[in-house]
Amino acid sequence: MAHFVSPSLLTADFGNLAKDVRMVNNSEADWIHLDIMDGVFVPNISFGFPVIQHVRKIAEKPLDVHLMIVDPDRYLTRFHDAGAEILTVQYEACVHLQRTVTEIRKLGMKAGVAVNPHTPVMLLKNILQYIDMVLIMTVNPGFGGQSFIIESYNKIAELKKMIDEGGHKVLIQVDGGVDLENAGKLVETGVNVLVAGNTVFSSDDPEGTISKLKNI
Ligand code: DX5
Ligand code: ZN
Repeated sequence: MAHFVSPSLLTADFGNLAKDVRMVNNSEADWIHLDIMDGVFVPNISFGFPVIQHVRKIAEKPLDVHLMIVDPDRYLTRFHDAGAEILTVQYEACVHLQRTVTEIRKLGMKAGVAVNPHTPVMLLKNILQYIDMVLIMTVNPGFGGQSFIIESYNKIAELKKMIDEGGHKVLIQVDGGVDLENAGKLVETGVNVLVAGNTVFSSDDPEGTISKLKNI
C-alpha cells in the first residue's frame, strides 16, 4: 500500500485558514490532520469545535483529528458531529482505553491510539484488535516544529512486527519532526501515514512539498 500524507494545520495560517485548507484540497495529501490541545495534557492550547466545523465545510479530504486532551470520552460525540472521520486519543490519557476506542468506532469513526515517546509500543498488544491506527509521537506533543526523536525508528519496527505477527489491519502513523530527509526511511521502516506540519506550511511551496512527501 502506498503511504498516506496528512498535513497538520497546526502550523497553517490561522488568519487565512480557508486558503491553506484549499491548498491541501488541491494537493496530493490524503487526509487533513487537526491537533486538539487542552493546556492540561500538553502545555499548549490549540483550537476546538468551531474551527473543526469550519475546516469541515471547506475540506474535501477526511479529517484526521488528534486529541491531546485529558478525559476524551466526554467529547467523542462532539468531535464526530464536528466532522472528524479518524479520531485518535492518547494512550496516556485513557484509563479505560478499550471502552474509548469501541465508542469511537460505534460512532462511525476510525479509532486511533497515540503513544508518547516514553510509552513502549508493547503496551498496545491487547488493543490492536480494536483499533484502526497507532500514532507514534516522534516528538513530545504540544508544539509544531520540534526535532524528530531518532529512537522512534526502533518503536516503529517493533510495532510493525507486532501488527504483522498478530495479523492486524492497523495503520502506523508518525507525527512530529517529519521532513523530506527522514520521510523515506520512515516509510521503509513501516510507516503508513506521515503527518507533517512545519515541513509543509513553512515551505515556500507547500503543495510541492506535500507532493514530495507523497512520492518519496
Ligand atoms: C505535535 C502535534 C503535531 C504537530 C507536528 O504535538 O501532534 O501534529 O503539528 O508538527 P511538525 O510536523 O511541525 O513537527
Ligand atoms: Zn498531531
